[in-house]
Amino acid sequence: MVGCYIHVPFCARRCGYCDFNTAVLGSAGLTPNGWLAGLRAEIALVAPREKLGTVFFGGGTPTLLGGPILAAAMDMIRGELGLASASEVTIEANPETVTAPLLDALLAAGFTRLSLGMQSADPAVLAVLDRAHTPGQVTWCVDAARRAGFTDISLDLIYGTPGETLTSWQHTLETALACAPTHISCYALIVEPGTPLAGRIDRGELAAPDDDLQADEYLLADDLLTAAGLGWYELSNWAAPGHECRHNLGYWHSADWLGFGPGAHSHVGLQRWWNHRSPRRWAAALQRGESPVEGREILDDAMIHEERVLLQLRLATGLEVSELMRTERERLPGFMADALLITHTNSVVLTRQGRLLADKVVRDLLS
Ligand SMILES: C[S@@+](CC[C@H](N)C(=O)[O-])C[C@H]1O[C@@H](n2cnc3c(N)ncnc32)[C@H](O)[C@@H]1O
Ligand code: SF4
Repeated sequence: MVGCYIHVPFCARRCGYCDFNTAVLGSAGLTPNGWLAGLRAEIALVAPREKLGTVFFGGGTPTLLGGPILAAAMDMIRGELGLASASEVTIEANPETVTAPLLDALLAAGFTRLSLGMQSADPAVLAVLDRAHTPGQVTWCVDAARRAGFTDISLDLIYGTPGETLTSWQHTLETALACAPTHISCYALIVEPGTPLAGRIDRGELAAPDDDLQADEYLLADDLLTAAGLGWYELSNWAAPGHECRHNLGYWHSADWLGFGPGAHSHVGLQRWWNHRSPRRWAAALQRGESPVEGREILDDAMIHEERVLLQLRLATGLEVSELMRTERERLPGFMADALLITHTNSVVLTRQGRLLADKVVRDLLS
């Protein structure tokens, strides 16, 4: 089944750690209505193939668009591309943008899954991250979303923020779990070059994230989330049974997906393509009746193989041994002796220690 990613390139303000393709609303060179018109034109360029099994509105801050524009976008997707029955439709939301009427509007528009950017329950950590919400707003949002009728609610957390301690992170995890979400993502903070956060670290105003602390934080998250009934199913993701993100599972299983919006990537069969990153260029191309695609590539056997190993090893279901080449299979006993991989029926799966060193395991396996 095919997935669909819709990129919304607007935020109310920029967080100092983020280098996603998003700009402050009002200075993005594109208005929300201009974005909607671009989306309409871009969808019209696509010949419908099969109905969409999953849709994911990501950003940026999709909830900044408000109910009417989001409902209009969903109508287009439903009408022009088609939604399969029981499809999963996710929207990312910043807690400070969520209201009870917006939640009702999202459900009426067909969204089935809410992914809230909680990040931390520690006001000092939220301040370092430049977040605009308070911890209390997250608790309110989850309660309100459940009352409104959402049964799939996910929280995004970040660990390793300068100044964060293991105690603060434990408090964040416990606060998140007390909200009883069905899914939690925990991301290690990445200091992206060129961001204001990187500048503050370079100038010595903030300490760089500590690898050992981040490893301890990962293990604590795995302990607490698992004990609370959220099983890990991908390196950074834990879910109650049956509440895994089907859209992201599609990416990790190299399924087909169509991306719309500035900078969105698509993958169908052996082809991959990506749009102009600049909202202005994306919209201008569509206004001229042209494709907003900036580049394309055909995946060769080596690329497909590397990607499958890289993505499937991240999953709790692991990688089928038969996917590996002979030389790679010969390396497996070494990883098992180091307790980084275990076999599970016909697959290899990362151990907890292996999950901490996943990038290195993949590199060494493919080298
Ligand atoms: C790009 S955001 C979009 C959703 C929404 N605007 C938000 O901030 O929650 C998706 C997730 O990526 C995370 N993220 C962004 N930059 C990151 C970084 N440098 N390191 C780790 N996580 C990051 C965000 O914190 C968020 O949870
Ligand atoms: S983390 Fe989210 S809210 Fe912050 S700038 Fe990035 S996309 Fe926008």
